[in-house]
Amino acid sequence: MSIILTSPLDMHLHLRDEEMLSTVAPLSAKSFSGAIIMPNLVPPISTKEALLSYKERILKACGKENFTPYMTLFFKPTYTKEFLESIKDDLVAIKLYPAGITTNSEGGLSGFDVEELRPTLTAMSELNIPLCIHGETNGFVMDREAEFVSIYEMLATNFPKLKIIMEHITTKESVEALDRFENLYATITLHHLLITLDDVAGGMLQPHLFCKPIAKRPEDREALRKVALEGNPKVMFGSDSAPHPQHAKESCGCAAGVFTAPIALQLLTELFVEHSTVEKLQAFVSDNARRIYNHIKVPTKRVTLEKEPFIVPTKYDNVVPIFATKTINYNIIKIEKIGDR
Ligand code: NCD
Ligand code: ZN
Repeated sequence: MSIILTSPLDMHLHLRDEEMLSTVAPLSAKSFSGAIIMPNLVPPISTKEALLSYKERILKACGKENFTPYMTLFFKPTYTKEFLESIKDDLVAIKLYPAGITTNSEGGLSGFDVEELRPTLTAMSELNIPLCIHGETNGFVMDREAEFVSIYEMLATNFPKLKIIMEHITTKESVEALDRFENLYATITLHHLLITLDDVAGGMLQPHLFCKPIAKRPEDREALRKVALEGNPKVMFGSDSAPHPQHAKESCGCAAGVFTAPIALQLLTELFVEHSTVEKLQAFVSDNARRIYNHIKVPTKRVTLEKEPFIVPTKYDNVVPIFATKTINYNIIKIEKIGDR
C-alpha cells in the first residue's frame, strides 16, 4: 500500500549556517514543502538584514528544490510595531527562548514581566505574527516544561488574540493546556513520539537521543501520541531536527539536539501505520499547520512512501542521524514537485 502525503511541513527546524547548512538544508528541502526556520544562530537572527540574508543563504543551499523557508526572528521585548511591519512580508513567526535554556539561547528572556512584553506582543497580535516559545523554566530538568505551563497560561490570558505555539511539547501537562486556551497550539517532534528518558539514559548513555526538552516518562509520550495520532487540530509536526557535528555529540559535554530530518516522514508513517491511524498523518504533517499558520503560502509537493526496508545511514557528512545503521520499515519512493517556488 502506498501512502501519499501532500505538501509536508516541518514547523520547527534548525538548519544552522555555512557548511552545516549545505549538508542539512537539501535533506529537508527534498521531501518537505517548507519549514519554520529557527533563529538561534550565533549571533541570533534579530534584524531585518540578518533575516533576509539568512533566507537567501538557505534558498541557495536548497538549490532547485521546491521548498519555502518560513523565517523567524529571535524574540526581543524591544521590537516595535513599525519594525515588525517593515519586515512582515518575510517574517512568519517570532521565537522566544528563556535565557540559557538550550543551544544558543544566551540572549533570551530572563523574566516574564507582562508589562515589559506588552508592546511587542500587542504588535504581534495586531499583525497576526505567531509567537513560538521554548517553554522550559530553569528548574529541575524533568519538571521544567510542566513548570512553564503557568507562563503559557499567563501569556494566553493576557494576549487572547496572539497565537502562541508551545514548541516541541514533551509532557501530559502541556497537552492538557491545549484544551484550556483557544490561542494555544503546539508542535510535537518525531523523537518525543518515539522515545522516553529510558531510551536516552536507561542503559548506556545515548548522546544522539539527547535533546532539550529531555524525553520524559511513558505516560507523557502516551499523551503526545494520543493528540498526534488522532490528528488533533491544535498540534502539528515540528521535527526540532537539530544537527550538531559528531564530535560535539560524542563528547564529554554533549550538545543538545537530535538530527531527524532525513528520516522523519518515513518514521512518522511507520508510527501512524502501526497505530492504524495513517489517515490522520496528513493533518499532522501539513493540514493543521496550514490552518494554524493561515498566512503562509505552501508549494505543492507529493511524497509517496511504501513499506520497504531502509537502512539509516551512519552519517550525513559529519552528522549522525537518529537510529543510525538501524533498518526502518518505510521508504520514500517518489517525490513529485508541482509548480514553482
Ligand atoms: C536545539 C539546537 O540544537 O539548536 N537543541 C535541542 O536540543 N532541541 C535548540 C532547541 O530547540 O532547544
Ligand atoms: Zn529547536
